[in-house]
Order: sequence, then structure tokens, then C-alpha cells
Amino acid sequence: MNYFTLDQISEVNTLNEGEEKPARYAVIGKPVSHSLSPQLHQGALDSLDQEARYIRVEVERGQVAEAFEKLYAAGIKGINVTVPHKLEAVEACHQVDPAAASMGAVNTIVFDAQGQRSGFNTDGPGFARAIREEFGVDLKDLKIIIIGAGGGAGRAIATQCVLENCPQIILANRTLEKIDSMMGELQQLSNSETLEGPRDRISTISLSDPALEEAIAASELIINTTSVGLKSGDPSPFPSHWVEPYHLVYDSIYHPSRTRLLREAEGQGARIANGLSLLIHQGALSLEYWLNREVPIEAMRQGVLDAIKD
Ligand code: ATR
Repeated sequence: MNYFTLDQISEVNTLNEGEEKPARYAVIGKPVSHSLSPQLHQGALDSLDQEARYIRVEVERGQVAEAFEKLYAAGIKGINVTVPHKLEAVEACHQVDPAAASMGAVNTIVFDAQGQRSGFNTDGPGFARAIREEFGVDLKDLKIIIIGAGGGAGRAIATQCVLENCPQIILANRTLEKIDSMMGELQQLSNSETLEGPRDRISTISLSDPALEEAIAASELIINTTSVGLKSGDPSPFPSHWVEPYHLVYDSIYHPSRTRLLREAEGQGARIANGLSLLIHQGALSLEYWLNREVPIEAMRQGVLDAIKD
């Protein structure tokens, strides 16, 4: 097995037996065996001369707070949280960063000297950094449409777009009910005193609505956060001949590196990017929280590329 269970965590000896470096960072999830977080972080930790190992831990629903306590007691200094625990992790923190609270999801845990847990979400800010790296523009300046806004990644990105004051945010989803309540919450966030800009800049649309073509035409950045494209033979999540050369197209999927959407969007003359940069920047931001210093992005990118090469 390439992961530990919660019971094994109670045995510090089991955790570090035969290992050169002690376990200091962990990702929790279920399933967790496919998580690339160790490959993402270990090279960076090594290149920073950290005496630290990054491990995977499988945790059942309802046991997230207990897992945090056991991991802290076992000497773990920072935790990443993945599916399906990002929501439960919000409740299992002593403090939650306001942006993470708005996203309704925590993916990074920082312990203070007393073991108190602070929760952050690096998916949204990591996405903003990814867009700057890939396209050389700021997220805040772009008219956005999110295809699949009802999923976890879609929600984090949509919240980031509101926090960045993007001039247009269209939430598109197959199931409209899933984004209706989110739209209300995002509008409230957008109406808060700290944010300026047009009040009606957030809207929703069903993926089957004929007006989707117009909504895409009115956008500058098209983001796919559906899982459509993960499997070979998957279609594009919307008719990709609607893509125009002025579009930037970002697919949160990074494996395969080119989904059908990205291939066809490129054929239409648009600029494209896959989700590898999001994976890397959300991880880099977690590591920055833990180490309080700049981290080697290229070591992280290489770690993931080595892990996914066919
Ligand atoms: P999470 O990211 O929270 O695990 P998910 O259930 O994997 O979420 O779904 C991610 C997104 O992919 C959702 O927006 C989902 O649409 P629904 O809310 O309508 O379920 C979208 N999605 C998954 N399969 C899809 C498909 N075949 N066509 C369109 N959208 C799809």
C-alpha cells in the first residue's frame, strides 16, 4: 500500500520505520492512493534540505478532526486535504481563512505551536497564479465562464473570480440546482463592502441552454471544471467549434495533458492551457504556508511530470 490508515498513524514507529526522513507533511483523502501530492511536494522539500517526508493517509468520512489530532500528535506539521474531505475540514479547524470559508472548502491545514489548526484554501489563489503564468494576464481583468461550476474545483475558482472582482462571471453547469444557491452566496460576497464593481456580473446558465453559445462568445476565459475529458474518448463539455481565436481556454484536467476540448480549441486558434499549473501553484502555496518562504516551483512541476509520464 502506498498510504497509511488512521490506525497506523497512532504508531509513530510504524510511520517512520526504515525511513531516512520522518513523516512531516501529509495528504488526507478517500481514496488517496492516486494523490500526486507526495510527488508534488517531496522534490521541493528535498531541494530545500528539509528533513521531512510527505505521506498519504486514508481517512473515512466523519473522522477528519480525529485525523488532524492524530497526525499532529505523530509529528506532522502540515496537511493537505483532498476529496471528499474539503468540506468536513472547514468544521474541523479552529480558525478558517475568510476566503476558504467563502469557498466552503479547506485544502491546507497549518498548525500553530499549541497544535491549533488554521484552514486555508489554495485552489482559488493557485488558479489566479496559474492564469498569470499560462497567459500572462491577470484573472481580475478577464470575463469568465466556468463550465462545471457545480463541482468543488468550479466553486473554488468561481469564488476566487468574485474576490478578484472579475468583470463577468458566468456559472455554467449541467444541473442548474447545484449552482443556484451558490450564485446567491457569491452575490452576497460580491455585495460586501470590500468589493466594488457591477452587481449583476454573476449569472448562471445550464449547459443545455441554447444561449450558452452567446455566453461563451461574451467571455474571454473559458474554464472547464467538469470531469468530461478525463477518459479517452470523452467528448468536449460543450461544442468546441464555438471557441474563437480571442479565447483563452483552461482545462482543469492535466492527465491527459490535452483533452478533446483543448485540442479542438487550439485548432480554432485559441490559446490553451491544462490544469498542471493549477495543481502546481495550489501545492506551492500550501508549502509556502508551512515553510514561510518561497518554494521551488520547477522541482514541483518536475515531480508531477515524472509521476504522470506514460
Ligand atoms: P467534485 O469536483 O465536487 O468532486 P463532481 O461530482 O466530480 O464534483 O463534478 C464536477 C463537475 O463535473 C460538476 O459540475 C458536474 O456537473 P453536475 O453538477 O451537473 O453533476 C460536472 N459533470 C460531470 N459529468 C458531466 C457530464 N457528463 N456532463 C456535464 N457535466 C458533468
